[in-house]
Amino acid sequence: MNTPAPPRPRRAPLLRALGVLILLAPWMLIALGAAYAALRFLPDRAVTYADPVEHFKYGSTGGERESGFPYWIWQALPQVCSEHLPGKGYASLGLIQEDGRDLPIGVSKRRHLGLDRVFLNCAVCHTSTVRDTAGAPPRLIVGMPAHRFDIRAFETFFFDCAAGPTFSREFIVPEIDRLAGGLGPIDRYLVYPVAIALMRERLLMLRGRFSFVFDQPAWGPGRVDTFNSAKVLFNFPMQALPAQELLGASDFPSIWHQRKRMTRDDGARMELHWDGNNTHTEERNKSAAFGTGTTPPTIDLAAIGRVEEWLLDAAPPPYPYGIDETLAARGATLYTQYCADCHGASGSDFRGARVGHVTPLAEIGTDRARLDSYTRELALNQATLYAGYPHRFRHFRKTGGYANMPLDGLWLRAPYLHNGSVPTLRDLLEPAAARPARFYRGGDVYDPLRVGFVSTTPAAGLFLFDTTVPGNGNGGHEGAAYGTELPAADKDALVEFLKTF
Ligand code: HEC
Ligand code: HEC
Repeated sequence: MNTPAPPRPRRAPLLRALGVLILLAPWMLIALGAAYAALRFLPDRAVTYADPVEHFKYGSTGGERESGFPYWIWQALPQVCSEHLPGKGYASLGLIQEDGRDLPIGVSKRRHLGLDRVFLNCAVCHTSTVRDTAGAPPRLIVGMPAHRFDIRAFETFFFDCAAGPTFSREFIVPEIDRLAGGLGPIDRYLVYPVAIALMRERLLMLRGRFSFVFDQPAWGPGRVDTFNSAKVLFNFPMQALPAQELLGASDFPSIWHQRKRMTRDDGARMELHWDGNNTHTEERNKSAAFGTGTTPPTIDLAAIGRVEEWLLDAAPPPYPYGIDETLAARGATLYTQYCADCHGASGSDFRGARVGHVTPLAEIGTDRARLDSYTRELALNQATLYAGYPHRFRHFRKTGGYANMPLDGLWLRAPYLHNGSVPTLRDLLEPAAARPARFYRGGDVYDPLRVGFVSTTPAAGLFLFDTTVPGNGNGGHEGAAYGTELPAADKDALVEFLKTF
């Protein structure tokens, strides 16, 4: 028997659609959530600048990916932890704040993991200011040593802040709210609380690993212990290392004219870094990038490539305070006789039989701590750093002294020597016993008489540098070959000529 099936009760199309929707709802929510998360957390975009100088000052080298601080936490901390700063804001640590910028020079920004993240770039250690008088506006000079930036006080600020009670969402989120003008619920209840907890944990971990730094005498502004920090990053057992390898604060150097620093008179590469431990400017750049928080997988090679390219021919500005040409001409003769072999024919001609060679420690006689801090073992570790990458380090090696380097932009490189232990050029031409035993570092008011920064009078933010502290010795680079036995008038003439560099 064929009885037709009873007609199915017709559901309203609207209801049907609703049923489907209800069935699919969890999946749609997940898909929407995933789309939000992808849009929010996947983009990896650095803020970029067309102008190479702006790129140098504010561009990213990739450090934010591994080490970046969330932008708003960076902005909130000077208020939340003001008791750990020597003065007002990041400027009190010697960072340079330009008008109309939200970040100091040397701090770059990248969108990564759903947040704007900031970290340091090359300019933080290689850019600074000069003032003609205490009341004059600062001249900004890229490529010169950041002689006012106190990187250890900078690290200490973050470590102490993280260890204190205010590094928590209860204090930081309201401050971000105030600065950013209100946070959405996802940021307020999820993103920032997690970011604050992660950042705190990471800072406390680093604080533990870098504890050896707190046993060292203060570096003062413009100096950093480069290679001991590298040992920490390579997980060296710092407590077990011999004491003489644990001290190596060196002055930030200038970094202009890298192209001319590639080859020396005998056709080989110049041995550079203070102790001449690397002959390749490309590797010195990448090893420096390691110091800006990048690691082999996170380094932004294209961005570093732009900096590298610009550094090849970047030049220092000329000495602005007038030069006595007659006196300088007399000085030129003395310079050619005494100094040119080791330091190059002039401030722009780097030819000289011994330029880019290492002078043995016994001969140069300057403080040995920086030399001893760089060990064969560290060289071996650096050789493995980029293993498997085409840009693997191959040219780091242990040397026995300090490098004879070109003196371009010399007027901007005070205090002098690798440890910054001699305040002015005129002082460097005196025997060590007659050089200032204590002086103030970190000022940017210029002293055109002695050629260097005013260093004899205390002022807010200056650091009293004591040459009797281990690693700070101001001996060496003295004797007949180094001009310290010349009559005073000859020394004056030499200094006048060095102003042309
Ligand atoms: C934390 C501070 C700091 C940062 C950041 C930094 N540098 Fe340096 N740089 C130094 C110090 C200190 C030295 C000297 C190291 C030594 O020989 O002891 C140096 C040395 C150099 C030299 C070698 C100078 C020479 O010819 O002997 C170059 C080139 C250089 N840096 C480039 C860079 C570049 C490029 C960056 C960014 C990718 C960078 N630096 C980031 C502190 C820094
Ligand atoms: C035998 C080679 C040699 C001779 C000769 C020599 N120097 Fe040097 N000079 C060096 C070395 C090596 C250093 C680095 C020493 C250190 O930092 O510990 C240096 C450092 C310097 C610095 C410090 C650079 C800086 O950026 O801090 C100045 C300035 C300088 N020499 C000037 C002179 C002058 C001027 C003469 C000639 C009167 C001279 N030197 C002669 C090898 C030499």
